[in-house]
Amino acid sequence: MKLSIIGTGYVGLTTGACFAEVGHEVTCVDNNEEKVKTLLEGKIPIFEPGLEDLVKRNVAAGRLKFTTSTADGVRDGDVVFIAVPTPPQPDGSVDLSFIEKVAREIAESLKPEYGFRVIVDKSTVPVKTGSKVEETVRRYAPEGVEFSVASNPEFLREGCAVDDLLNPDRVVFGVNNDAAADMMRRIYDPFNAPVLVTDIESAELIKHAANSFLALKISYINAVARVCEKSGADIEKVAEGIGMDARIGRQFLNAGLGYGGSCFPKDVKAFINISESLGYPFELLKQVESINEDQRSLFLSRIREKLWVLQEKKIALWGLAFKQNTDDVRESVAIKLANDMMAEGADLTGWDPQGMETAKRFGNLHESFTYGEDMYACLDGAEALVIGTEWPEFANADLEEIKKRMRTPLIFDGRNLYDPEVMAAHGIEYHSIGRAS
Ligand code: UGA
Repeated sequence: MKLSIIGTGYVGLTTGACFAEVGHEVTCVDNNEEKVKTLLEGKIPIFEPGLEDLVKRNVAAGRLKFTTSTADGVRDGDVVFIAVPTPPQPDGSVDLSFIEKVAREIAESLKPEYGFRVIVDKSTVPVKTGSKVEETVRRYAPEGVEFSVASNPEFLREGCAVDDLLNPDRVVFGVNNDAAADMMRRIYDPFNAPVLVTDIESAELIKHAANSFLALKISYINAVARVCEKSGADIEKVAEGIGMDARIGRQFLNAGLGYGGSCFPKDVKAFINISESLGYPFELLKQVESINEDQRSLFLSRIREKLWVLQEKKIALWGLAFKQNTDDVRESVAIKLANDMMAEGADLTGWDPQGMETAKRFGNLHESFTYGEDMYACLDGAEALVIGTEWPEFANADLEEIKKRMRTPLIFDGRNLYDPEVMAAHGIEYHSIGRAS
């Protein structure tokens, strides 16, 4: 099928490449000329395992194109996806100005001779956005154009986006007529995934409800970790025991510093805001948020308790990205924690396998922060090592090397990467989350 995607960010680019991979003809549109130029040269503006090869292969095969022209996208795609940012506003509501602008641009590019077009929202949007998009397109489109609006939320995770897209757990789309449903089915036929077809409002709500539930799972296990700390129980064992119940599942029960990233914090806030505006104050999700925020400050109190005064203490930080396998530092809890420690005068040196450049450019780290030469170099003379991100490189680190380089072998592990007994055997003082230290 001929598909277009307006907005070549994380979701738009990976989705476009995966649609091309299964045989569709895809046009990706972005108004950022620099980005389109980079992509046309075969370079990928983000770190995402497997994506560069996928893009190169499909561009070479002529199935994937990039352009700055929305009009070309609307001309070339029987189905036009909207994948532009929906950032949070200061009050927690969603800024829909990019969606509105793209809806207008699509409308102005539609022509009656193109025949029936489906306009699909892929961005994470508040319930009822579809009907606003439909109204807007109808208002600005020329007489005689035929179109239908649909919602098709995306569930990919950064770091494994290509696999998530090519082998999805489920595909959800919301439509309001059979012709649109038929076209959406044909797009997803090659993926062999379970498909759920709903009305537009339900599809929109599924995305916010799913992300909020995953965030809730994380806050739940973090709250249980606090009870573990007070009772001498071990959160890793407790999570294992809970997770063996098939109704609960072990995933997203990793206690730690809390969730970050460009999705969960924004989506939980947005869902609270949407529910409130519809007349339901979602108190449960407010708790999810506050547990998540407190997780970082409680960890900082533990560091303070041990180091007494942070002023002039040399602290190494492993991890800047918001999670493993990504260079994305948006809403990274590791960076927030680093800034908290530097605000108290600590002398921080950090390292991340992929997030160094993005942290320098977008991390908003305090100016006193220094970037380590490599993972072990930032430990030289450190009085404490803080683990902020769950990278496998850190979990598999050489413990003797850590000990040799540090001034005092003291680790605060915000991601529970090590076994306390192994640490004790190496003579390293070890503090983690939800376990006796
Ligand atoms: C999340 C969802 O998992 C995707 O399904 C969704 O499509 C995406 O948001 C989105 O809305 O676009 P992502 O933000 O890439 O994906 O990251 P996750 O893997 O979900 O991790 C989010 C945060 O939770 C990270 O900071 C991670 O460290 C933390 N986390 C995750 C925990 O603290 N504990 C866990 O057990 C799992």
